[in-house]
Amino acid sequence: MILVLNGPNLNLLGKREPEIYGKTTLDELEELCEGWGVELGLGVVCRQSNFEGQLVEWIQQARDEGFRGIVLNPGALTHYSIALLDAIRGQSLPVVEVHLSNIHAREEYRSRSVTAAGARGLVSGFGPMSYKMALVYLADLLEAQP
Ligand code: DQA
Repeated sequence: MILVLNGPNLNLLGKREPEIYGKTTLDELEELCEGWGVELGLGVVCRQSNFEGQLVEWIQQARDEGFRGIVLNPGALTHYSIALLDAIRGQSLPVVEVHLSNIHAREEYRSRSVTAAGARGLVSGFGPMSYKMALVYLADLLEAQP
């Protein structure tokens, strides 16, 4: 089972700056992830929070809840949250960081990811497909380590 976490403001997907983030709503994105999970033979559970502490707690508890990997879009927390970085590093599940937009093609302050330092890798710029790529990686990883 894979936990897909979306951080602050991603509840507004579809309405928020659609020229950057696209027209897919959070509900639709979560449905896509669940569908890709079915194709890949992974259970997928999606959650979103605007609160850093809630994301920290979900990351801390994920293993005990039975998850085997995490796909994380930390939103703006990407760029400054040492608390999220510590949460990622403080647990043993593989985390893949994802972004809908290409964080390297935008404002300078977005090109730095604090949280990616704790992640296995980062997929950025492919819209909802960023999440699919992360799930494909985790499916492959978990197949290799049953
Ligand atoms: C984002 C990129 C962040 O810079 C921004 O703050 C977001 C969304 C993305 O998915 O492209 O909220 O993580």
